[in-house]
Amino acid sequence: MVSKVLVTGGFGFIGSHIVEELLRKGFQVGVLDNLSTGVESNLAEERPRIKIHRADITDLVTLRKVVIGYEAIYHEAALVSVKRSVEDPISTHMVNAGGTLNVLKVAVESKIRKLVYASSSSVYGNSQSLPKKEDMRCLPVSPYAVSKLAGEAYCSAFARVYGLDTISLRYFNVYGPRQREGQYSGVIPIFIGKALRNENPVIFGDGTQMRDFTYVDDVVKANILSLEMETDPGEILNIATGTPVTINLLADVISRETGKDNLKPIYEKPRPEDVYASYADITKANSVLGYRPGVTLEQGIRKVIDWFVSTGIYARQR
Ligand code: UD1
Repeated sequence: MVSKVLVTGGFGFIGSHIVEELLRKGFQVGVLDNLSTGVESNLAEERPRIKIHRADITDLVTLRKVVIGYEAIYHEAALVSVKRSVEDPISTHMVNAGGTLNVLKVAVESKIRKLVYASSSSVYGNSQSLPKKEDMRCLPVSPYAVSKLAGEAYCSAFARVYGLDTISLRYFNVYGPRQREGQYSGVIPIFIGKALRNENPVIFGDGTQMRDFTYVDDVVKANILSLEMETDPGEILNIATGTPVTINLLADVISRETGKDNLKPIYEKPRPEDVYASYADITKANSVLGYRPGVTLEQGIRKVIDWFVSTGIYARQR
């Protein structure tokens, strides 16, 4: 049984939720983060119980020292924005593909027993059919998607070549508390922040594009199961809800749940790097891990609104 776990990107949005749950389950937890997008306040209460390594995954020498003594790794550290990857594909590649290669290399050297990799639904791109299944051909459209697919391919190669036990979880549009509003953030915090400030949401395209919005607690659940269950080395699984939601519907739900029915979307031209429709078949995660999503969009959105209101964070945005 594994007891010491390292979470790269542990001060980030998804990483910090994984850290909390690992602590709740009695694991000894280390957090590796360069604090470029993660913030220490995400784990303010847990701080005394975690070992903090302020380091960068692109720094192989430091990484090698940090990993010593850990038995499992959750690799969540990444530059997570599609938009940012279009503006700066080189950094996205260096961190997401190169950084993942470094983490895998030191994982092999330190005889890590399991490595769970945060992959992304973006790897599918505009694939032929829906819902997206793990055995479909990946046709990534953005540099971000390419970098995530490269990391995943490295995980599979390291499983085959070095016998490292890896599992890649293809997260579908994760949202939840601690996901901050900003130019590189996902649509949900952007729409909620705007609604709370009485600003109209901006929709890129006609709003009929679909996404499979997955609440962070469900993603955490899948991550914990990935450590607890025996899985085939190099395994790849979709982690989602399986329910498509249009951006128009999302805007409606958010204006209703914030009580701002007066706000109406402003339509702008679609983003060229955008995938049109993305939702998952989650049969494989269910059969391999016993994974079942538990949070509906309305429930999740309400929790995020409560978090925005409790922190007052929306008032501080532009
Ligand atoms: C993509 C990936 C996702 C990844 C994420 C990381 C796909 C299918 N999904 O998310 O797996 O984790 O990047 O950043 O590739 N939108 C608006 N108005 C806004 C903001 C967004 O209309 O103000 C639209 C976008 O054009 C898009 C949808 O909302 O159609 C979702 O956008 P976003 O939340 O940025 O995520 P994805 O690009 O889908």
